Parts: sequence; structure tokens; C-alpha cells
Amino acid sequence: MDVSTREQWSHIVDETISAQPRVGRQLLAMVKGLGDITDGFSVNQMQHALQTATRAERDGADEEVIVASLLHDVGKLISVPNHPRIAAEILRPYVRHEVYCMVAYHQDFQGRYYYEYLGMDPDLRAQHVGEPWYELAERFADVWDQKAFDPAYPSETLEHFEPMVLRVFAQAKSL
Ligand SMILES: [Fe+2]
Repeated sequence: MDVSTREQWSHIVDETISAQPRVGRQLLAMVKGLGDITDGFSVNQMQHALQTATRAERDGADEEVIVASLLHDVGKLISVPNHPRIAAEILRPYVRHEVYCMVAYHQDFQGRYYYEYLGMDPDLRAQHVGEPWYELAERFADVWDQKAFDPAYPSETLEHFEPMVLRVFAQAKSL
């Protein structure tokens, strides 16, 4: 890099910008990959992702929230214990801050339903009371995410969400 030129960097920037659609496509492939993960739940992780996003959309959530709902557990492809932060970091440049926080801290809110069975504090969400994104995170966890394990629920297909994913990941709003 110490011998690179302005012209070379201009070329790299142009190429990188024109390659941006691969981000959305890669994430759609990752959601498909979640179909290989069930880990004892009543639906696989792709079905859970589709069901969470469908519930959000049917409740009138906006596009960033719907896409974040689809991707909120995509980090499980890599590592379950820290999966919320993996997904949140993927989303961070492309969504507003409250949507990032909704995903980053979703496990603290989900804990209400099962942390007692794991010897953990089920009220970890209490530490976030007063945050401007609290209400959205609570709605996400209580109304969409924790309910999205119903094998009989009529979810939309991944193709339904594809244009939304490509739009949200078309351009980073921040670094
Ligand atoms: Fe989830």
C-alpha cells in the first residue's frame, strides 16, 4: 500500500461500489444456510428467520426492521453464544441505530422465556430500560422472535424478502 496511487484507489473504490450487490446476495445465501441448523428447536433456523420477518411485516414494521428480523440469528451460522453481536455488526452500517440495538441485545430480552432454565438471570432486559430503542427491542422479542417457532405458521418465502434485503444492503449509510 505504501506505493499505491490515487488512481489505483479510485479504481478500487469504483470496483468495490459496483460489487456492493454481492452483500445482499451473500446474506440471502446465509439465510438459506440456516436451514441446516435446528439445534433441538421445533423449526429450523431458516424457518425461524422467515417466520420472525413475516410476523414483523404483517404487524406493519418498516423495511429495515423486517430485514433485521430476517437476519437477527444469522450469526448462528458461525457461533451461537455471540450470535446477536455478529448479526448486529453485519447490519450496523445499513440500518438506523435502534434497529442495530434491537438485534445486538435481543438475547437479553429473549432471556425472559428461558434463562431461568439455564441458571441465568431472566430479566437482563432490565439493564436497557430507558434506552430509546427499548420499546422496539421489546416488541421484536416478545411479539415476533419468541413466537416464531410455530411449525404451522404460514410464513412468506425467502424470495419474498429478497428485494428488501437487496435494497437495505444496496449502500452503507455509515462505516
Ligand atoms: Fe430468534
